[in-house]
Amino acid sequence: MATAAAETKSLTSRKAWQALGNHFREIRDAHLRNLFSADPGRGERLTAEAVGLFLDYSKNRVTDETLRLLVQLAEESGLKERTEAMFTGQKINITENRAVLHVALRAPRGATIEVDGENVVPKVHEVLDRMADFANRVRSGAWKGQTGKRIRNVVNIGIGGSDLGPVMAYEALKHYSQRDLTFRFVSNVDSTDFAEAVVDLDAEETLFVVSSKTFTTLETMTNANSAREWLLSKLTDEAAIAKHFVAVSTNAKEVSKFGIDTANMFGFWDWVGGRYSMDSAIGLSTMLAIGPENFRALLDGFHAMDEHFRTAPFEKNLPVLLGLLTVWYTDFFGAETEAVLPYEQYLKRFPAYLQQLTMESNGKYITLNGEHVDYATSPIYWGEPGTNGQHSFYQLIHQGTRLIPCDFIAFNKSLNPLGRHHDMLIANVFAQAEALAFGKTAEQVKAEGTAEWLVPHRVFEGNRPSNMLVAEELTPDILGKLVALYEHSVFTQGVIWNINSFDQWGVELGKQLAQRIVPELEDAQEPSLGHDSSTNNLIRRYRKAKG
Ligand code: F6P
Repeated sequence: MATAAAETKSLTSRKAWQALGNHFREIRDAHLRNLFSADPGRGERLTAEAVGLFLDYSKNRVTDETLRLLVQLAEESGLKERTEAMFTGQKINITENRAVLHVALRAPRGATIEVDGENVVPKVHEVLDRMADFANRVRSGAWKGQTGKRIRNVVNIGIGGSDLGPVMAYEALKHYSQRDLTFRFVSNVDSTDFAEAVVDLDAEETLFVVSSKTFTTLETMTNANSAREWLLSKLTDEAAIAKHFVAVSTNAKEVSKFGIDTANMFGFWDWVGGRYSMDSAIGLSTMLAIGPENFRALLDGFHAMDEHFRTAPFEKNLPVLLGLLTVWYTDFFGAETEAVLPYEQYLKRFPAYLQQLTMESNGKYITLNGEHVDYATSPIYWGEPGTNGQHSFYQLIHQGTRLIPCDFIAFNKSLNPLGRHHDMLIANVFAQAEALAFGKTAEQVKAEGTAEWLVPHRVFEGNRPSNMLVAEELTPDILGKLVALYEHSVFTQGVIWNINSFDQWGVELGKQLAQRIVPELEDAQEPSLGHDSSTNNLIRRYRKAKG
């Protein structure tokens, strides 16, 4: 298939890639201590600021030459052209023959973005308006349950992109949420997830939002069926379904088969990937929590970052810089993971959200041309909010044997100011980045009067890279900007690696095999057990235990 990527040279034969290889050999041992002392302006120079986000990338193991070559790599990889292809609705998701247009979900009313000759922006706003109308009715109490009581509880049922975005956004924006509404999120097919979510809820006051792009996902459909049984066991009348269930999906046929009136369905389109869908109707639970106005501010934030990504020169482009640094550490330093460490309690689910965004997008070993890559692709993303992580795994980042680039995220203001807490929080995040970069030498340790034998244990080599992202305060608008920042960083990485960041074939095999095993666990008669001996044994043991 002809693609922009197919026309560019293979990654490892690009000039900039080869130059980066040579350059890496020259600077691999350069210490951040020396880079900083040789260049007093570095900490101010290697920064970028746009749309209310400040990025300090000076504590990375880069020189001006590294950055020049990385930008050249982006150019040689056709990043500009590929970005335009995405924003103009070309079918860059070649394995599914789909456009990739999450950017259309936050395009302002009146914008034009065409897919197959049709402007999709009016459809986006039509759904947003219906969502707003519904959200207002639920939030005001005008939408009543079957017995006339107002809705007090909202349970989102979904998994993957139909869960992680909603739950992350709910937690991130809790400060802005309507506090007399309770929100729960059910994703796992493990019945405990559902049971615990509804244990203290009154069915008469509960609304289920069944969120599934395909409306066929095993976990979501199993949970949705259990939710229906739970509701009907309390309210008995089938008509209650219309008052207590709404659906968010691209699949109207399956929605009505399930028994939900399509009048209570909020749609989106096949050009929205699951992990890129939190700003589509999949964000209905978010809108119910924070209200339509805040939801629109979230979308405006996304859009501002989209525009920055599309138009800013690569040297000053936040997502491009982040994406290129990831490529630098992954492919040249051999870093296997990247930590995302938000110093903001409300962002506690942000690392989990990013795991799907980054790893489902770029965890691939096949190029757009169908060849096996001969370089590493997505690192493993992980993280926890600060300062908790400091008292758990930071030891390994500081003194372990692996290089773990870190993204710190901090805010100038707390949404819950309390005494000296925020100064302490921020002192910690700045201190961590400083300690990682500069460490502590044996001389410094000795000068503190440390016993000779203890010195090696107390030395910090330093030279551990990090980015520091700082914004004023966590608002819906800033959350949109942060998410879009990582979306476009992931896109930048995918373009360099020449992979399709928008399919997820790697999740299919496990799903298929599970479908095959389900009846083997449930059937009365002994199954054929045509698996390998380990799987057969596990099935037999489970059947026996089940009785
Ligand atoms: O299994 C992976 C996946 O397809 C994700 O990409 C997606 O976000 C999730 O499942 C849920 O899919 P759906 O929204 O169709 O239920």
